Amino acid sequence: MACKVMTLGGGAREHAIAEALVRSGAKHYSIMSNNNPGIARLSKCVKHIKENNVTEVADAACQFGVELAVIGPEAPLGYGVVDELENRGILCASPNRAASMLEISKSFARDLMAKHEIPGRVAYRTFDSLDGLDDFLKKMNGEVAVKPVGLTGGKGVKISGEHLKDDDEIRSYCKEILEKSIGGSGFVIEEKLVGEEFTLQAFSDGENVYPLPAVQDHKRAYEGDTGPNTGGMGSYSQADHLLPFLTNEEYLRSVDIVKSTVEAMRKEGCPYKGVIYGQFMLTRSGPKVVEFNARFGDPEAMNVLPLLDGNYVEICTGIARGKVPANEVKFKDLATVCKYVVPKGYGVKSIANEPLHVDEEAISKTGAKIYYAAVDKRDDGLYTTTSRSLGVVGMANTIEEAERRAEMALEYVKGTIFMRHDIGKRASIERKVAHMERVRRG
Ligand code: AMP
Ligand code: GLY
Repeated sequence: MACKVMTLGGGAREHAIAEALVRSGAKHYSIMSNNNPGIARLSKCVKHIKENNVTEVADAACQFGVELAVIGPEAPLGYGVVDELENRGILCASPNRAASMLEISKSFARDLMAKHEIPGRVAYRTFDSLDGLDDFLKKMNGEVAVKPVGLTGGKGVKISGEHLKDDDEIRSYCKEILEKSIGGSGFVIEEKLVGEEFTLQAFSDGENVYPLPAVQDHKRAYEGDTGPNTGGMGSYSQADHLLPFLTNEEYLRSVDIVKSTVEAMRKEGCPYKGVIYGQFMLTRSGPKVVEFNARFGDPEAMNVLPLLDGNYVEICTGIARGKVPANEVKFKDLATVCKYVVPKGYGVKSIANEPLHVDEEAISKTGAKIYYAAVDKRDDGLYTTTSRSLGVVGMANTIEEAERRAEMALEYVKGTIFMRHDIGKRASIERKVAHMERVRRG
C-alpha cells in the first residue's frame, strides 16, 4: 500500500478526500492555491501553487516524495497533471488527460455513448457555427439544453423554458458562446430531459466498476430550487444508498450505464482510472445521462467519503494499479445531509473577503462534520472568497435526523453568508417524490 499520498485542490471535496486518506493511514501532503485550514491541518506539508500549473505541481510532488496522488478538481486533469505525475513515477488514482475528456468535452462523452450504443443517451448535435441550428431546433420542438463544449464550472448550461424562453433566446445564447468562445470550442444542443436528477459515483480501475451510494445535489442557489445554477448548494443520501424517488432497479440501471461507459473507454484504448461521476436525470423512461465528470462531485464527495468503511488508501492504490480490492469498497448504512455555507451574493456576485466565524468545538459536539472549502486562513482569522465557504454534514439513520444535525452545526457558523435551509427537509423531499410520481405518470 502506498503510504505517502498527495491531494491536489483546496475545496471541501479535497478536505473530505484528505480526511478519508488520513483515516486510512496515509501520510498526507497537499497542494492547493488557497489556504484551506481543514486540509492544512491534515497535511505533513502544504504547498501553495496554482493547481493548473502541471510542472510546478509535479515538481512539488517529487519534493514531497509521495507515492500516490489524488486529484480533486477537473481543470488540472484537462491540463494533463496525471500524465506528468505518472511520467515521474507517481501513482495516480485519477484519470489521465485522454480519459478525462469524458468530462472536459461534452461532445466527447456524447459521441462515445452514441458509438458504443450505451443506454441512457439522448438526442444531440454538436455545432461549431450556427449552420443547421434552426433545423435542429425545429426537430427538437425547441425543447433543448444548450451546452458549451468545454468546461464552464457547471454554469454554462442553459435550458429552454428555464433560462431561455424561446428559439430567439436560444439562438442568441449560441451566438454568444461562439463569439465569446465560452468553454472554448462550439456548443452541444441536446434533448431537454425532464425528471429528478441524481448522482452516481463509482470507483473504476480501468476494468472493474464499484458503485457508491446515490446522492442528490441541489444546483440552484435559492430555496425551492430557484435562482441561478451554482457549483452545488448541498446534497443528501439515504441509509439504503438509494434515494426517496429512486428504486433499486433504477439505481442498477445507472450502474450499468457507468459500467458500459468504462468498458467503452477501455475498448477505445483509453482505460478510465479514478472516480467516475455520472450525473443522471431519472426520466419517465429511466435514467438518462446528463453528463459525466472525471472526479468526485463537490458536494457529493462529502456524502459518500465519511461513510466509507474500507481503507481508502488501499482503494486509491488499487485504482492506480488497475485492481481495486473489492472487499474495501463498503459503506455505512447511514443517511447524510450536506449543506454548503456560501458568501452572500453567491451565484450572482459574491461578497468576498469577509470574516467568517466557525465554532469548531461547538460543531463537533453536535456530531456533524465540517469540511472547509474556498476560504482563506489569514493571520487574523478566516475569510470568505467568491466561492463556496464550507460544507456541514449531518449523518444519522434517516435523512430527517441527518438534516437536523446539519442545521444544529450551522448555528455555529457566522458571517456575511447564506445557505439553503430546505435541503434534506421533509417538505423538500416530498416535493421531489411527488414530482417524480407526476413524471412517471406522464
Ligand atoms: P451539466 O454541467 O451538464 O451538469 O449541466 C448543469 C445542469 O443543467 C444539470 O445539472 C441539469 O440540471 C441541467 N441540464 C444539463 N443537461 C440537461 C438536459 N439535457 N436536460 C435538462 N437539464 C439539463
Ligand atoms: N456537484 C456537481 C459537481 O461536482 O460537478
